[in-house]
Amino acid sequence: MPGYKLAIDGPAGSGKSTISSLIAKKLGWTHIDTGAMYRAVTLLAIEKGINLNDEASYRFLESTYIHYDLDKIFIDNRDVTEAIRSESVTNNVSLVASMPYVRKQLVDLQQKAAKNGNIVMDGRDIGTVVLPHADLKIFLTANVEERAKRRYKENVKKGKEAQISKVIEDIVIRDQKDSTRKESPLKKASDAIELDTTYLTIEQVVNKIIELTDKKESNHGV
Ligand code: CDP
Repeated sequence: MPGYKLAIDGPAGSGKSTISSLIAKKLGWTHIDTGAMYRAVTLLAIEKGINLNDEASYRFLESTYIHYDLDKIFIDNRDVTEAIRSESVTNNVSLVASMPYVRKQLVDLQQKAAKNGNIVMDGRDIGTVVLPHADLKIFLTANVEERAKRRYKENVKKGKEAQISKVIEDIVIRDQKDSTRKESPLKKASDAIELDTTYLTIEQVVNKIIELTDKKESNHGV
């Protein structure tokens, strides 16, 4: 299936990145976690001390090289994979991602990266804006308690202090911001297949999506 483009969208903690990465490994495709890119911009904006509400302050992106490769994210070749998961980044990323200028810069990068296909791209607006002609679009969901439980376990594994009630609150707030923003809100594309993963294992979701890609041949669209 040369040139295949697989778009995976969904709310916070729905398992997009984990599942997309596993699918890419199994199929020998490239995976791009676009959420990691928005997080990288947020990290850099915080480090630079700019006013996060001022769109013009994000012009530094013109001379910044953001790059996602093999589950790692780099800013000008600095590996920031761990740093982008900090609480301050998580708390501010929805604001940064609501800036049209930031979205324009990152969407350009994402579309270039997807050009040759054989790609799994995950995010919030992949099926609707970044790859509207993707060969297959998946919208992953899970109930909020399950999504919070997954995020909580991830945090504990990384040795981060966590409280389940706080994780639920963070997820609800971020979902609300992401789905109500003016610019490219989190939304299921009309031609996306919705998969509720609440009661499915990671393996089951991965296999289900691979099955769907097998059924849908590439149409070599953009
Ligand atoms: O925490 P989680 O892995 O679920 O989120 P993420 O995929 O790392 O994305 C972090 C944030 O980036 C989201 O809450 C959105 O505000 C923003 N985002 C976006 O606006 N568009 C995308 N395509 C991907 C992420």
